[in-house]
Amino acid sequence: MKQESCTIVIFGATGNLSRSKLIPALFHLEAAGRLAPGLRIVGTGRRDWDDARYREQALASIRDDRRASDEASLHERFLARLSYVRVDLNRKQDFTALADYLERNRLLAGGIVFYLAISPSFYAGAARNLARNGLSREDSGGWRRLVVEKPFGRDLESARELDRSLHEDFREKQIFRIDHYLGKETVQNIFVFRFANIMLEPLWNRNYIDHVQITHSERQGIGSRGGYFDRVGALRDMVQSHLLQVLTMVAMESPPDLGAESIRDEKVKVLKSVRPLTEDAVDDMTFRAQYAAGESDGQRLPAYIEEPEVPADSNTETFAALRLYIDNWRWQGVPFYLRTGKRLAENSSLVSIAFKKPPAQLFKQTGIDINRPNSLILSIQPLECIRLELQVRENGLEMKARSTHLDASSCALSASGIDAYDSLLLDVMEGDRSLFLRSDEVEQAWKIVDPILQAWAADSDEIPLYRAASWGPKEADRLFHRRGIRWRNTL
Ligand code: BG6
Repeated sequence: MKQESCTIVIFGATGNLSRSKLIPALFHLEAAGRLAPGLRIVGTGRRDWDDARYREQALASIRDDRRASDEASLHERFLARLSYVRVDLNRKQDFTALADYLERNRLLAGGIVFYLAISPSFYAGAARNLARNGLSREDSGGWRRLVVEKPFGRDLESARELDRSLHEDFREKQIFRIDHYLGKETVQNIFVFRFANIMLEPLWNRNYIDHVQITHSERQGIGSRGGYFDRVGALRDMVQSHLLQVLTMVAMESPPDLGAESIRDEKVKVLKSVRPLTEDAVDDMTFRAQYAAGESDGQRLPAYIEEPEVPADSNTETFAALRLYIDNWRWQGVPFYLRTGKRLAENSSLVSIAFKKPPAQLFKQTGIDINRPNSLILSIQPLECIRLELQVRENGLEMKARSTHLDASSCALSASGIDAYDSLLLDVMEGDRSLFLRSDEVEQAWKIVDPILQAWAADSDEIPLYRAASWGPKEADRLFHRRGIRWRNTL
């Protein structure tokens, strides 16, 4: 497919997101032939760098990326697209200098993506300064798109304020709120798997589904991100954004078409149907904890409060679990369990859909256990996989069953080699907003977590702890709506 030429201006070009995700993703698109010949990448940052220094950094990012091709001519072609303009986000005149640079290089006539890979406290100011220099206007012929990374605010009120401020300078159609989880292969596959197969639809509801679990667990601790994470916590960092987005993909109705607004309308409906948590319900339906020290492979793992930039008396949760209900015809009464944690036993992101037990006691006198109901596992990472677990008869003289599974995909480590940022950056360039969040979607997600944030903030009890490298606190089991349910940790 022929790509339209445009310019990508990255704010925060020397930062971590840019180095570890954006540059490798753009390079990957280069290797796939998806960058138009005239496409330019302008990195901006506070550091006093020149083009050569910026290219050096980009080359280092590419070399660190295990997916990247080491073909020198490809490196050369990609690096030639890069230039650097110094922009201190606090200095209005630097934005004017950026506008001059874009004009001098005749880049204003084409489309421009402004990617805010910066601290959220600078979002509103950066958008304002772009607008003041005419860089939000589309009247010169080229489009202007603003990509905003999460978190969009830290609660409902601040999210609304940020939105109001962005809308003073950019129209909704120009704002791309990125949630990289939506770019992941299996998350996109949920949509296709559900709506391109008729056999699932009759089962996909409260009559056949017992409960749904959505898990994102990480082995890593907070490491160098303590300064950011301690102000945010796991609920805002993962649940308000990524996990609620996955929930919408699992629970939404089929949209009338593939248009961005149609898809987002359906997602918003799901979020609006999530039963609001009252203050009393918070204790019953949520659980938070923080990792204590632990051990892995004979090595001591530090407690959260021992991590750099984390205060010794921090009450911030590194683990959060919730039970939610979606009050609509399809899902009434089906619990959705959402769970995330840092420093858990394994890296694993998956959706586990547990079906109900078959009704008959047909096999009562046999070795066949109907207490192992079917599950459908949508594994997001590390393995990408859709797996249906079933019971079949074991060959032999006895009446026995064994569990088996059908895999609807290769169940491999990123079989396509595509990272979420590759496809999302391409979508921005193509103006496809289906996998980006609309402002009402963000607002609804905050409405769900706001009561929890408030109740947790008002709770002066010491936060429960769990051992690093474990599967989290046992007490989180109290969220289950009945006995006999277990967390599904891995594929
Ligand atoms: C980010 C969170 O948005 O998503 C991180 O801020 C988290 O804390 C990350 O580790 C998880 O995404 P991925 O793609 O790295 O598994």
